[in-house]
Amino acid sequence: MMRAPLSNLPIAFEEVSVLASAAPILDRVKLTITAGPPTVLIGPNGSGKTTLLRAAMGLVSPSRGRLSWGGQESGLFAKRAILFQRPMMFRRSAVANIRYALKAAHIPRKHYGERVQQLLQQVGLDGLGERPARRMSGGEQQRLALARALARDPTVLLLDEPTASLDPAATKAFEDVIRMVVKRGIKVVMSTHDLGAARRLAGDVVLLHRGRVVEHTSVSAFFSCPQTLEAKAFIAGELLV
Ligand SMILES: Nc1ncnc2c1ncn2[C@@H]1O[C@H](COP(=O)(O)OP(=O)(O)OP(=O)(O)O)[C@@H](O)[C@H]1O
Ligand SMILES: [Mg+2]
Repeated sequence: MMRAPLSNLPIAFEEVSVLASAAPILDRVKLTITAGPPTVLIGPNGSGKTTLLRAAMGLVSPSRGRLSWGGQESGLFAKRAILFQRPMMFRRSAVANIRYALKAAHIPRKHYGERVQQLLQQVGLDGLGERPARRMSGGEQQRLALARALARDPTVLLLDEPTASLDPAATKAFEDVIRMVVKRGIKVVMSTHDLGAARRLAGDVVLLHRGRVVEHTSVSAFFSCPQTLEAKAFIAGELLV
């Protein structure tokens, strides 16, 4: 498959704050997400990972600062897709769930059959199309949610702790699909609590703490010479509060 055009990149946060009743959830975030291997967001509960991804998706507007996609402040035309922390499945078959996503992405109906089969195959669910989505295992549901996100044919794919409730085998199956997605040239931005996942997948790592970016560096630098006390503590497995 051809490399997707990366015109939505970089995603640039310039002093972005998101406030909830005057308290900052994101606090003057300065971050540039560029093309290349996955950008992995890590940080303790409540540090702002989900909010940062929602802002990148255009689902939350910054209270202050500027957010741009490929140099443009309106992200309306950006081909972005997000996989939420707790994806909701319709009480219907896997195929019906994907068809719904294709409809939402305005894909012409005549292409549905072929696209559904392609997407099921890409996420390793071929043969399971007729299974009720809510009867699928947690790992299968997560890959089905990924197929729905890919239905939009995104250039940027945002994943919010996609493997948080998966066992090692299901995590590996999911990460294999992510590697395929990355090979196709799709920019992946993923949040996780799992330092192992960061090591395996990341090109660069962003550590969030209390709504601030405390460290942003290549994955190798992050693990070999963390610069901040927060990063050292997080890597050492100490509780960062
Ligand atoms: N709409 C909102 N109104 C008020 N507070 C909010 C809102 N959205 C998020 N918050 C708060 O902002 C903080 C950051 O939340 P966020 O969900 O971004 O963190 P997170 O890093 O994704 O956490 P987790 O690891 O638990 O998923 C939390 O304290 C949360 O309660
Ligand atoms: Mg979250």
